[in-house]
Amino acid sequence: MEYQEFAKYYDIFYQNKNYQKEVEFLLNFLNGKKNILDVGCGTGVHAGLLEQKGFIVDGLDLNKEMLDIAKMRIHSNLYLQDILNLNINKKYDVIISMFAVLNHLKDEQELVKSFSNLKNILSNEGLIIIDLHNPQSSGQKTDTFGNIKRTMEWVYNPKTKKEESKITFEIDGEIYKDAHTFRIFTIEEVKKCALKAGLIVKEIYENYDIQKLGNPHSKNLQFILACH
Ligand SMILES: C[S@@+](CC[C@H](N)C(=O)[O-])C[C@H]1O[C@@H](n2cnc3c(N)ncnc32)[C@H](O)[C@@H]1O
Repeated sequence: MEYQEFAKYYDIFYQNKNYQKEVEFLLNFLNGKKNILDVGCGTGVHAGLLEQKGFIVDGLDLNKEMLDIAKMRIHSNLYLQDILNLNINKKYDVIISMFAVLNHLKDEQELVKSFSNLKNILSNEGLIIIDLHNPQSSGQKTDTFGNIKRTMEWVYNPKTKKEESKITFEIDGEIYKDAHTFRIFTIEEVKKCALKAGLIVKEIYENYDIQKLGNPHSKNLQFILACH
């Protein structure tokens, strides 16, 4: 199931994701900033929470079905665009991209292109905050929340730096399957691609915790980038 089909279930399936904690983390970097762009905003949960805190947040996503839901949360601009091919005539103080959006890219070349596109719409003193998935191994896990049983299986190949993941959600006897191939970017690759795009990685955190610095073993990484 790809995002088009998945969109109407997305908020139900991720109802226990701690968006509030992620937004609290983001607030550490938003002092004095006004305009925010949420790239790969999906159903707009981060953007909606930030809007409630008084920020002006535009959203951008490749999937119309996700944006149709985001429309109910975000009241400013929504762009139906691919990060690889942006057409936006506006500068942003902060650009966020949360929950593995850039892991959907294929390779380093696409990461450089994406960074360079984002840099073009970033104000001079602006920041880019990206959240990347960083699996350490293959595995599987089943958990239950409310009436939902979720089974996740992921196979990480360190040679190809690709992770194949499959998630099955079971709600009231109905089964929904989702599958993704993620390109896992190492910290060194992110730094290198950022430099090629004229950006610099200023700080790296793990698990949306301002007290914890990210390292190659962190399960997820938040990178703070600025113009070089
Ligand atoms: C895992 S979801 C994350 C959604 C949201 N940021 C969140 O935290 O709930 C990934 C999102 O990235 C979007 N996406 C993937 N590749 C993209 C691209 N090349 N350009 C724009 N959006 C993209 C998908 O459509 C999807 O909505």
